[in-house]
Formats: sequence, C-alpha cells, structure tokens
Amino acid sequence: MAKRKIKKWQTMIILGSQWGDEGKGKIADYYGNLTDYVVRFQGGNNAGHTLVVEGEVYKLHLIPSGVLHEDKVICLGNGMVIDPEILLTEIDNLEAKGMKLNMLISERAHIIFPFHILMDGMIDEYKGELGAGTTRRGIGPCYADKAERSGIRMIDLMDKNIFKEKFDKLFELKKLTLEKLYKADIDLNKKQILKNYLEFGERLKPYVGDVSLAINDAMDKGKKIMFEGAQGTMLDNDFGAYPHTTSSNTTAGGACVGAGVSPTKIDRILGVVKAYTSRVGDSPLPTEIFGKKAQYLQDRGQEFGTTTARPRRIGWLDFVQLRYAQRINGFTGLAVTKIDILGGIKNIPICTHYKYGNKKMTELPSSLEELRKCKPVYTNMPGWKNLTEDDFKAIIKKGYAALPPNMKKYLKRIEDEMGVPIDMVSVGPDRKMTIEI
Ligand code: IMP
Repeated sequence: MAKRKIKKWQTMIILGSQWGDEGKGKIADYYGNLTDYVVRFQGGNNAGHTLVVEGEVYKLHLIPSGVLHEDKVICLGNGMVIDPEILLTEIDNLEAKGMKLNMLISERAHIIFPFHILMDGMIDEYKGELGAGTTRRGIGPCYADKAERSGIRMIDLMDKNIFKEKFDKLFELKKLTLEKLYKADIDLNKKQILKNYLEFGERLKPYVGDVSLAINDAMDKGKKIMFEGAQGTMLDNDFGAYPHTTSSNTTAGGACVGAGVSPTKIDRILGVVKAYTSRVGDSPLPTEIFGKKAQYLQDRGQEFGTTTARPRRIGWLDFVQLRYAQRINGFTGLAVTKIDILGGIKNIPICTHYKYGNKKMTELPSSLEELRKCKPVYTNMPGWKNLTEDDFKAIIKKGYAALPPNMKKYLKRIEDEMGVPIDMVSVGPDRKMTIEI
C-alpha cells in the first residue's frame, strides 16, 4: 500500500462505521493527542470506552477519551444527554487519579433524570421484539422529551428558580405517565431528586458554557478540534436499523448539529472499521456467526459491553453495510481496528452482497423485514498466523510493509470495497500498538 500524504487538517470527526464498539476510544485517544479540543456531540452514558495507557485501564462513559491528555479542552456538546450524577462520578474518579480537567459542558445539552431511566426499561420491555435492547440509561426517554420540547437543559440547572419550576412540571407529567399509562408502581422521591439535582448543578456550574461559541472561536484561532462519535453508523436513529437504534444521530452530520459547527468547517472524517462485526443488543445482523469461531473472536477480542458487560454478538465483515456507512458519512479515511484478533483463522469470509430470494442485493434495505431475510454471500480471504504482541511490536518498528502479506490483502480489500484509504491500523489495545500509514 502506497504511503499517502494526509492533508494538513484542523478538524476531524471520528465515527464508528458499524454497530458501535469498533474501538473508537483508542483511535480518538491517539488523535486526541494531536488536537487542542476534544468534543463529544451525541449520546450519553450509553457509550463506553476502555482505554489502556501504560498498562492502566480507564473506563469512560460520558467524558471523551481525549481527557487523558491533560492539555486538551474537553467539550460535551449540545447534542448530548447527560446524567449529572454519572458525570460527577467520572470527574471524581479522574481527579482521584490526579488529573486536572479542562472541560466545558454545553448549556444546551439535555439532562437525564431517574424517571427517564425507569421509562427506558419499561418501554423497551413493552416493545418486545421491536425493542433495541437498550442500555437502560434513560437515553431514549430523555431525547423524546427534547423532541417533545418538555426536556430540561443544563442552562436550566444553572438557575435554581427556573429549574424548580421546570422540574416540578416535568416530574408531575412523568409521574402521571408512569402511574396511569404504564401502570407502574414507582418509588420516586421528588424532594430528594430535586435536592440532588440542585447540588449537581452547583458542582457542575464551573464547567457549563457555550460549547459552539468556544469551539468556533478556537477554530478561528487555528486550534485543532476532534469530534469524537459514540455508538456507530448502524445505531443512527435515521440511518441505522430502526427501531433497533439509539436515539441520536451517530453519523457525520450529527457532529455538526450536536456541537454547533458548520459542515464547511470539517476537514477529515475518519471511519473506524473493526476487522470483523460485533453488535450488542437486538436487531437483524446478516453476517452473524455462532459456535466456535464466534467464541474465538469474542474471547480474543474481549467482546463484552463496556457499559452493560453484555456479551457482544459476532459476525464477519459486511461490505453491504460498510459501503452504506461510507455513503452516509463520506469518510475521508479509515482506521481499521482489531485486525490482530483475526489471526489464526485459515480462511476469513467477507460478505460482498446479500441474496434476498433470488435477488442480488448490494445496498442495505430500509425494511427490517427485508434485512432479516437477506442471506450474506461470502468470499473467502486467506488468513494469517496468530501473531504475539512481541511480533507486532517488531512489525510496528518497521511499519506497514512488514505486516503479513495476507493481512495486507485483507486491508486492501477493505479499501477497495469502500473506496477510501486506510490511514491507520490498530493491532492491540495499547496506544502504542498502532501503525499509521
Ligand atoms: P440506548 O442507546 O441505550 O437507547 O440503546 C439503543 C441501542 O444502541 C441498543 O441496541 C444498545 O445496545 C445500542 N448501544 C448504545 N450504546 C452503544 C455503544 O456505545 N456501543 C454499542 N451499542 C450501543
């Protein structure tokens, strides 16, 4: 693969191109080092990154991974939904490790309350097979309130009187909904929640401000900005496998809306592609595999949710889905992760298209009914032997060319199918186990 020059860039969006859990956290941490601002723009503590730096493991849900570089400004954008209690716990944990946070939380971000969390579980259970198998963190109900225009934002929490008034209305509405509509026997202490949230507000006050203004000013001053996506393309509420999606826009456009920046200001959109597929939660997954091979990848790839610890479903690489991700996001480059996990498999199937009855499908259908009936058509790629961490360390010293030839063939196939160059290959969880091309 030719060494390609990456254009000088000031802004970059990092996105999951599959179903989440592609290893974005590590890639964002890597590029976070090169930027001045790291911005999250959607989702909440449904996300989870596991980062390994110098052997120390960090698990984060709300704060973007760039936080581990202390000289960065960390921003939580308006497109996010924030559980303040969880956020304060993350702040406390990082500070306990001796970190000083330079963080700005958007005044426009919406707030998650305990009733959102209760409703999340109830709605998902009620939906049965149409549920998404949510993380039960209150994400969907909080975004629903935002769309319904009864939500409460960070800015409201900054003024006790305004907050009390809005909280009172919202609480009573949710109590009625839960009791009368859901017939739920709820145990929510209104006074206590109010008291807790006012305290959370006081503690968060120093961090709350206008994120859009801050990052646009920073861009004018030539600062580098990285927008860190959560979840993945197939969980986007418009373009994912609806209704088995999350409630926000996880795709490239979501970064602009969720942070308050113009699309004309974005230089690079990096798509993170895991070398195989995984999915936590429910939905059709055409290339899903079971049995020994699935177990092999699940164990080696530690495919258990960071947020819920649920085992992830496993599948082969699906190019129908990945070409679709490319169309929606317009990636300028790819970061391929966990290629090391495929080591030791003799022939690696890749799905080039689906068969729907007698029809060849090269595009992802919008209908879940159709997707459910699509059968993957595979081509086998030759595998490579299992490499140890030391083998990879030796390869990293020499660079991309030293990777096993069949691994390079596999990577080249990803580039060809998606029509985008690979900018980076990740061969292990540590920051150092990375090859830039
Ligand atoms: P919610 O975001 O909790 O509402 O869950 C909606 C769907 O998105 C469920 O299928 C979750 O399993 C999935 N999901 C949410 N966050 C993540 C993530 O960070 N990685 C992978 N899947 C996720």
